[in-house]
Amino acid sequence: MSDDPLFPADFLWGAATSAYQIEGSPLADGAGPSIWHRFAHTPGRVLNGDTGDLACDHYRRLVEDLDLMAGLGLGAYRFSVAWGRVLPEGRGSVNPKGLDFYRRLVDGLLERGIAPMLTLYHWDLPAALQDRGGWLNPDSPGWFADYADLMFRALDDRVPLWVTLNEPWVVTIPGHLDGELAPGHRDLFEPPRVAHHLLLAHAEAVAAYRALGRHRIGLAVNLEPQHPASASPEDRAAAARRDAFINRWFLDPLLLGVYPPELAALFGPAWPAFPDADLKRIQAPTDFIGVNYYSRGLVRADPDVQPLGAVRVTPEPAPRTTMDWEVYPQGLTETLLWLKERYANPPLYITENGAAFADGGPLDGETPDPRRVDYLRAHLLAAQEALAQGVDLRGYFVWSLFDNFEWARGYGQRFGLFQIDPVSLARVPKSSARYYRDLIRRHRGGSRGRGA
Ligand code: FCB
Repeated sequence: MSDDPLFPADFLWGAATSAYQIEGSPLADGAGPSIWHRFAHTPGRVLNGDTGDLACDHYRRLVEDLDLMAGLGLGAYRFSVAWGRVLPEGRGSVNPKGLDFYRRLVDGLLERGIAPMLTLYHWDLPAALQDRGGWLNPDSPGWFADYADLMFRALDDRVPLWVTLNEPWVVTIPGHLDGELAPGHRDLFEPPRVAHHLLLAHAEAVAAYRALGRHRIGLAVNLEPQHPASASPEDRAAAARRDAFINRWFLDPLLLGVYPPELAALFGPAWPAFPDADLKRIQAPTDFIGVNYYSRGLVRADPDVQPLGAVRVTPEPAPRTTMDWEVYPQGLTETLLWLKERYANPPLYITENGAAFADGGPLDGETPDPRRVDYLRAHLLAAQEALAQGVDLRGYFVWSLFDNFEWARGYGQRFGLFQIDPVSLARVPKSSARYYRDLIRRHRGGSRGRGA
């Protein structure tokens, strides 16, 4: 059965979500608002005026959702903590009820034999910190490290896998240059500083973890191989620039101790001279890298797009998702092999992989989503190929457990293994949920993943 992925018995099988995308009740029990709450409530920012006020109502349906995960047979669950639930002002006094929600989540996972992978920051900065400049403030790495320290003390006895930041590139560019995601800024001078503070925030949190943590901590980045749209020298150069801009901006300083030189050239006067001492701090060893992989970048030179001078194009014809992302599974093998070669084979998890399709369908029984099943199978085979070529890949997390709030695109983009009945909020399995459950069952045969 060559088209059935086969992984080692200790491979970790997971699913991923994030707080603002699924929890709902953003201000419940004393939580402070986040920049996403603010952004979604600003007219014109999110498609159809959608917000995370209700989302999947996971905050109130925790036990039902934990049982659903157990039914899938998950070995691990990746979720994020809403910083503002725990620290309503982002710093200072703790909100015990917010912390208690995550204690119950972690305990509920462990009771069901599911290893928690906890992401500390998945884009929902407390609004009170944005009012102090957010990630532009040089104090922001310290704010983050204090919050991280609090979470380590509360949960490290029960959480084996920690992720500091989710996709710092997305915080940096769609958040501060394109204005598409919260906080919605458009300023060429902001991204270099924001990115630098995010890297320092990661490093400070890792340093805090080394002082008291007993498990493993890493960072999750969005990666996509960059291919030129034609053989022209301009397009080749554009693809190389985009590779530095997206794939290497965070990993080079973290793992090699230097920023890609292309960045200073691209940003010109907007690129500050960062102190060497900062780069030394940033390079502190990380236990693993989380890879979020969805597609590749097919790149055309375009001098009108600044600072990059490049645009991503979609090939015609090509299978693509409703996000307009090309389905390109071989790019996952390429990405994983690239990480192995460039960064000396670091331990890896695929912390997100999945696809949006318009697969609403009936709300009773099982929703057929054959394209998602094909997508998952093809990407797992691509991951298996990388493993066969010596990549240190330890686990895989589907994005996502549920159809959820897909940021500026609202609820129209459906990534879930389960859809949510809009009236009853019942969780309705898609055929991909059954596919994934059966795949896990075939592999686990009673054993626990090695991340647990
Ligand atoms: C990633 C995000 C995740 C989700 C997927 C589709 O960039 O980390 O929250 O939106 O894309």
